[in-house]
Amino acid sequence: MKELFVISGVTGMTGNELARQIIAKGGTVIGFDNFFASSLHTIQDILDQDAMNFFEWDINDEMAMKELENRVALEKDNYGRIVYINCAAVVHTEYFYDVEATFQTNVLGMRSFLEQAIRVGADAYINCSTSEVYSMQSWNEGGVSEEDYILFATAEHSQRTSYAAGKLLTEFFMKDAVDKGKIKGCSLRFANVYSDNELYAKHIIPHIITSLLEKQSVTLLENSRKNKRTFLHNFDSCQAVLAVIEGKNTLDGSVYNVATEEEVSILELVDICAKALNLEDYQIEFEGYRSADPERRLLSSKKLRERTNWSPMVSLNEGIKRCADYHMSKKD
Ligand SMILES: NC(=O)c1ccc[n+]([C@@H]2O[C@H](COP(=O)([O-])OP(=O)(O)OC[C@H]3O[C@@H](n4cnc5c(N)ncnc54)[C@H](O)[C@@H]3O)[C@@H](O)[C@H]2O)c1
Repeated sequence: MKELFVISGVTGMTGNELARQIIAKGGTVIGFDNFFASSLHTIQDILDQDAMNFFEWDINDEMAMKELENRVALEKDNYGRIVYINCAAVVHTEYFYDVEATFQTNVLGMRSFLEQAIRVGADAYINCSTSEVYSMQSWNEGGVSEEDYILFATAEHSQRTSYAAGKLLTEFFMKDAVDKGKIKGCSLRFANVYSDNELYAKHIIPHIITSLLEKQSVTLLENSRKNKRTFLHNFDSCQAVLAVIEGKNTLDGSVYNVATEEEVSILELVDICAKALNLEDYQIEFEGYRSADPERRLLSSKKLRERTNWSPMVSLNEGIKRCADYHMSKKD
């Protein structure tokens, strides 16, 4: 069966790897991005393939989205299955505190993309959500699960939760559309995804690696003295997306945690990065503090593992080695 995948935010960390994995298994991609946090270089290796159709579009641009809809409607009869995957979002932590920026793209953009998917008669919609929705209660023994109640920091505590609240709302839109029989789909709560070749050193792993490479020292937030996290390679996050799309009873409107259970402290993470760079001596400085930043974020991915055959393939050591090799090769 021929399959068409319509991917927003396709040059981002999740989108570009998804496109690569989809094309490798014979699917066709129509993808767009406005380069808010990425560039064309992430899909350079697949850009000239017939199966890859890229457009520089903004999810908030009505005219562009109408053009997309017309294009999919024209192509529809050539495919046995059409799947929309919403990766476009204002993601980096600096924006978590910016309610205006995140609301427009992450909530309104997600909803209009979902409405389009329903109008064109798409078979499924995948909503990329986030582990941020667990807010202040983002770990427990064995990892927080989808059915746990959530303890939210509010505007009284920190604007940070505006990003999480917006993403949580998208999960309601997703569930509502499925419950009303308009489309199949689900939401995926990703936790700390990283890739080998991130363009900007905004996430913690490229920040540590590029700082160590450049000056054998790294500046971390005060929170990092205690914080622990798990990290998921984007190969594995994309495998999870494909696993729920292929799953038998997975597109039920519900939510799935997508995370590893390999927890490390941020200080241990710095050490792993230094080893991957063959660096024996390095300095750590602490500066700044991030409010409403939970000390741990440990998710249980039991539900996903039980309903699909997904499990993460890239260990943290291997993933960090790949990142280090990429940044070292860029420096040469
Ligand atoms: N990276 C993580 O750790 C992480 C964790 C949890 C959830 N997520 C979620 O996964 C999804 C994908 O994130 P990612 O890690 O690939 O982030 P990313 O920033 O690498 O990719 C997002 C892409 O969306 C694009 N974009 C932003 N605004 C847009 C707009 N108005 N129109 C079109 N494109 C736009 C950006 O340019 C970028 O290429 C997001 O929904 C994000 O919230 C990511």
